[in-house]
Amino acid sequence: MDELQSRWREVDAYFVATLVGEDDALAGARGSGALTTMPRAEVAPNQGKLLALLVQMSGATRVLEFGTLAGYSTIWLARAVGEKGRVTTLELQEQNAAVARVNLERAGVADRVDILVGPAADSARRLVDAGAEPYDFVFIDADKPSNPAYLRAALALSRPGSVFVIDNVVRNGAVLDPASEDDRVRGVRAVLQDIADDPRLEATSLQTVGSKGWDGFTIARRAR
Ligand code: DHB
Ligand code: MG
Repeated sequence: MDELQSRWREVDAYFVATLVGEDDALAGARGSGALTTMPRAEVAPNQGKLLALLVQMSGATRVLEFGTLAGYSTIWLARAVGEKGRVTTLELQEQNAAVARVNLERAGVADRVDILVGPAADSARRLVDAGAEPYDFVFIDADKPSNPAYLRAALALSRPGSVFVIDNVVRNGAVLDPASEDDRVRGVRAVLQDIADDPRLEATSLQTVGSKGWDGFTIARRAR
């Protein structure tokens, strides 16, 4: 497995060098992950670019993110929405939000990003209560046990046509175990079942290998 992992890493490095690239702001945000409460949890560069492409392909200009940490994916999303777009990103810890603010500033996108600090479910509730305009694109990448609550909140803040992406749905294959006692795995399996049971949502999941090991994304679209 170690040899496989190193090959995955090399292929990712090749794709990133050839097609993706990271400027100083992105590289700095990745490096500053070490200052957060969860180092090395940010998406890979080629995954960040995927998020950006999905935002642009879906024409999204209003993006909601659950889980900011150092703001690495936030930078990709904020650049993708363009100058007139808006990203709202929900972060539990002020320590992480402070790191993210510096990174967003350096990336030149601080003026189009709102970081809401506190439990993400509470922040999302406040957005609903404030009558926030629907979000076009939602990236769910925070504490995994709360995935079902985050999907419910995301649905309350969306419209037909909105796109939802959920990170870390494979977890080295742990998602297969229906009897898992890992609350993160249970949170993934629960949200996937909720998606399956929701007649408004069309979805698929993809496994990924690469610099982040073996993991994956779920992508869903609200049809109505
Ligand atoms: C974990 C969370 C993430 O968002 C990630 O990308 C990797 C790991 C985790 O909770 O373990
Ligand atoms: Mg993640």
